[in-house]
Amino acid sequence: MEKILVLDFGGQYNQLIARRVRDHHVYAEILPYTVDLDTIKANDYKGIIFTGGPNSVFDMSSPHYTKDILDIGIPVLGICYGCQLIAWMGDGRVQTAPVSEYGKIELQVTNTDSELFADIPEESTVWMSHTDYIAAPPQGYEIIGKTNDCPCAAMQNLDKNVYAVQFHPEVTHSQYGNQLLYNFLYRICGCTGDWVMDNFIDNTVTELKEKIGDKNVILGLSGGVDSSVAAALLSRAVGKQLTCVFVDHGLMRKDEGDFVQDTFTRLFDMNFVRVNCADHFLSCLKGVTDPEEKRKIIGTEFYKVFWDEVRARAKDGYFAQGTIYPDRIESGKGMSNGKANTAVIKTHHNMVEKPSDIDFIDTIEPLGELFKDEVRAVGEKLGIPRELVWRQPFPGPGLGVRIIGEITAEKIKILQDADWVLRDEMSKNGYENQLAQFFCVLPGVNSVGVMGDHRTYDNLVVIRAVTTDDFMTADWARIPYDILATVSNRITNECAHVNRVAYDVTSKPPATVEWE
Ligand code: XMP
Repeated sequence: MEKILVLDFGGQYNQLIARRVRDHHVYAEILPYTVDLDTIKANDYKGIIFTGGPNSVFDMSSPHYTKDILDIGIPVLGICYGCQLIAWMGDGRVQTAPVSEYGKIELQVTNTDSELFADIPEESTVWMSHTDYIAAPPQGYEIIGKTNDCPCAAMQNLDKNVYAVQFHPEVTHSQYGNQLLYNFLYRICGCTGDWVMDNFIDNTVTELKEKIGDKNVILGLSGGVDSSVAAALLSRAVGKQLTCVFVDHGLMRKDEGDFVQDTFTRLFDMNFVRVNCADHFLSCLKGVTDPEEKRKIIGTEFYKVFWDEVRARAKDGYFAQGTIYPDRIESGKGMSNGKANTAVIKTHHNMVEKPSDIDFIDTIEPLGELFKDEVRAVGEKLGIPRELVWRQPFPGPGLGVRIIGEITAEKIKILQDADWVLRDEMSKNGYENQLAQFFCVLPGVNSVGVMGDHRTYDNLVVIRAVTTDDFMTADWARIPYDILATVSNRITNECAHVNRVAYDVTSKPPATVEWE
């Protein structure tokens, strides 16, 4: 398989660069700048991309790399800091720019014959964000693009096959950024584009079959996208040798547990074990009102139940989990070449260790090389229903973080019913996949209302809906008033014990997406 190395110098766009490369059907992996040159040489990369980064190359504590990397015969593309680093490696002049550029800037291509700018007009808009610039390129390098304030916005060295751009081709604000990456991959590195999801599925299924042989595999299925796709892939590889354990803590959305069970028992060949323990969770949560305490109880009990179930079945087999590429990069395992080496379970905020009395031959992470959008593409190809493949993020503690105060069976029912109405209306109005997340919250507030001739004193339901790219920040979604009106009418009519509906119009920060 053809591979591109994204050498990470600390910029915020490393994953985005890798995703953009993969969008062109070329596999890209990210390694930190601390990786040694021998490892890079051993990997047979078709090309290397140096990422941007927030530092100054002339500050010796900034990330640097041996300039020998430019002489190993692999094409290189430097982006932003990576561009300045290439200039610095070759004794060019990098200095603080008299005018720093930020945002959309006009680029002028000064060498239209450059392969990097093939099919790109002489003038176009690019995205810049820099305070240093290249005042003079190193010897052997030719300037191929400039802007008003940046005399060397792009340069090339044809002898070494090294290219560098001061702007960010990976962000969509760079008008022809995609074409530039395409040119680097296909015209300069000679890639042919063998990273397609059908190949991934075929290859992974073959590898899984070989690795697992006649042993068994056990997987924790949460009903989320990642574990669902991992389950479907393993099912295709080993069928009934796979056991999926689905712990239903009773804090899922309405009918979700049944939907997950129905999907995996009807559409996929596997042993499916559903552990119904809603009552157990309710009794553990009785009288508990502190949000952190609730989270802790739900998390602890969840894994207790899960491992008890696994312990009873884990005889001489493998353990699988739906870890994906960004999880591995963020936990520092991005360097392990797709192979996991420890059995840890992913949760939102922490990793839960496998109990020491449970043994597996090894841990399998069949999605360990994929980004989320690739996981979804694989899921669709494997026939997982769209509802599951495009499922919104759902917190591990489930509705537990959307019921403020003590959690009771009655409150869960009210919230599930209200939330179902919201989802139903959003889907009827074509909004289902438009927003990052939408749901209802039960804040534990009663207010006075009137129904017919009667005074009521019943629950408030709050609608929360956000738009966001990364969930670190979020804006409240501008759902049309008409939809909100229908949702409000239906919730107060159809859900017992709700007499008022409010809409949360707070962004993150200062609020968080979830209420607890
Ligand atoms: P916050 O509330 O932190 O949410 O702004 C950001 C995103 O994370 C999800 N979230 C969780 N996911 N376990 C999870 O698996 C959790 O405990 C948890 N808390 C929040 C939230 O739904 C949103 O997508």
